[in-house]
Amino acid sequence: MKKIVFLFLFLISVIAARYEPTWESIDSRPLPSWYDEAKIGIFLHWGVYSVPSLIEWFWKQWTDKNPVAVEFMKKNYPPNFTYQEFAKEFTADFFHPYDWANLFKLSGAKYVVLTSKHHEGYTLWPSKHSFSWNSVDVGPRRDLVGDLANAIRYTTDLKFGLYYSLYEWYNPLYLADQANNFQTNVFVENKVYPELLDIVNSYQPEIVWSDGEWEASDTYWKSKEFLAWLYNESPVKDTVVTNDRWGNGSVICQHGGFFTCTDKYNPGLKQNYLKNRYKNSLFLGVLQSHKWENAMTIDRESWSYRRNIKIENIFSIHELLVTLAQTVSCGGNLLMNVGPTKEGTIIPIFRERLLQMGEWLNINGEAIYSSQPWIYQNDTIGNTWYTAKSNTVYAIVLEWPENNVYKSKKMFDLFQTHDVSVYLLGNDQKLQVSLGDTVVEIVFPDKATVISQWVWVVKVLYSS
Ligand SMILES: *[C@@H]1O[C@H](CO)[C@@H](O)[C@H](O)[C@H]1NC(C)=O
Ligand SMILES: *[C@@H]1O[C@H](CO)[C@@H](O)[C@H](O)[C@H]1NC(C)=O
Ligand SMILES: *[C@@H]1O[C@H](CO)[C@@H](O)[C@H](O)[C@H]1NC(C)=O
Repeated sequence: MKKIVFLFLFLISVIAARYEPTWESIDSRPLPSWYDEAKIGIFLHWGVYSVPSLIEWFWKQWTDKNPVAVEFMKKNYPPNFTYQEFAKEFTADFFHPYDWANLFKLSGAKYVVLTSKHHEGYTLWPSKHSFSWNSVDVGPRRDLVGDLANAIRYTTDLKFGLYYSLYEWYNPLYLADQANNFQTNVFVENKVYPELLDIVNSYQPEIVWSDGEWEASDTYWKSKEFLAWLYNESPVKDTVVTNDRWGNGSVICQHGGFFTCTDKYNPGLKQNYLKNRYKNSLFLGVLQSHKWENAMTIDRESWSYRRNIKIENIFSIHELLVTLAQTVSCGGNLLMNVGPTKEGTIIPIFRERLLQMGEWLNINGEAIYSSQPWIYQNDTIGNTWYTAKSNTVYAIVLEWPENNVYKSKKMFDLFQTHDVSVYLLGNDQKLQVSLGDTVVEIVFPDKATVISQWVWVVKVLYSS
C-alpha cells in the first residue's frame, strides 16, 4: 500500500512538472544551473548585413533614408540594386568553424550565441520556410549554424545557443499581419513557429535567445506555447535556457528565463542605457534577485561588423574586465558580442580582446566561474567589486593600489570576526593584513612579481 501511495505521489509530481502555456507556469521552471555557473558567453551577429558592414540594421536604415546608407549605396552600387543582392557577396570564404571554436575556448567563455536569423529574415541554416533567403540557397552555400554547432561540440565543452529574431522587417506575411493589427497570425503559424521548432530539433541549442518581439503580444507570437513545448517535449527540455524577449508590454525583464531588460543592461552602472520601450520594466538597485544577462558589444557602436570601425570604438581589455566584474558581482552573466565579416573572419582586434579575456580568466577565473554575489557588491574606496563562494570572498580590484596598500571598507567586519588568509590570485604567498578603525589594509606584492594584468583579485579565505 505504501508503495502505491509513493508511486501515486511520484506520478503526481511528474505530471505537475509539466509546464502550461502560462507565464506563471513557465516562470516556475528552475533555470538550469549550468547557465549561472558559466558567467561568460560570446554573442555573434552575422548575416547579410555583414556585406555592406557599415552601420547596424542596414536594410532598415537604407529604407528609412538614413543619409549614411543612402550615400553609400549611391556611390557604390547601381541604381536599382536591392538589399537581397548583397547575399551573393556573403561568401564566408574564410569561415573555419574549428578556428572560431578554438578562439572561443581560449577566451574563457562557456557558451556561444549565434544569430540564426536577424531582423532581415535571412537564415544561417537551410530553413524550408525561408526559400532562397538562407545560407545554403544563396551566399556561402553552407549550413553555417550546423557547421559552427558541430565544431563547438566536437572540440570544446562550450554550450551552443541560438539567437532568433521573431519579427522580420519586410516579410510580406508579417506586414500583412501587422496591417491587420495582429488580429491574424499567418506569419507566426507559417514562419516563426515552424522555424523555432526546426532550429531546436535540428541543432538542439542550449540557449534560445529571442528578440524582435516588441511590436506584438506574446499571444501573437505564441511564445508561451513555444516555451511550454521547449520545456516539456523538446530534445533540450532539461538543459535549455531562454531569455525574456517574448512579447511586447510587460514581458521583457519580467517573464521567461534570464532577464536581458535592455541591450547592454548593467545595473551596476549608475546610468543605464534607457530606451523608451523598456522604461516601465527597468528595475532599480544593484544586486538583482532574478538571473540576468548583460548583452554588450566589444565595438561600442554596433552589433554587426563595420569596415570603418575605429580603434577608439573598441572597448579596452580594462573596460571589459570592469564590465565583467560589475556584471558578475550583481548576479549577471556577460554576453560579449563580436561581428564576424562577410568572409567569415573575426578581425584581429576582436581576437585580441577575446584572448586577453581568456588570459585574465586563466589566472582569475575562480573569482568568476560558479561564483555567487557576496553580501556587498562593491566598495568605492577600493574601487572593488566582490564575488563569493563558500568560505571565500573575492575582491576584484580595478586599479593597482597606491603604494601597494589596498584598502577595503566592506570587508572590515569579516576580518574582525574571522581568521582570514589573504592571497592575490596568481601569486602563492600570503599577503600581510592590518586592521584600521574602519578599513582593512592589505599589502600587495611588488607589482613586478605579479602575474595578473589589468585587474587583480584578492582572495580571502575565512574560517567558518
Ligand atoms: C531601374 O528601374 C526602373 C523602374 O523599374 C527602370 O525604369 C530603370 O530603367 C532601371 N534602371 C536601371 C539602371 O536599370
Ligand atoms: C502589443 O501588441 C498587440 C498586438 O499583438 C497590440 O494590440 C497591443 O496594443 C500592444 N501592446 C503594447 C503595450 O504595446
Ligand atoms: C556601489 O554600490 C552602491 C549600492 O550598493 C551604489 O549606490 C554605488 O553607485 C556603487 N558604486 C560604484 C562605484 O559603482
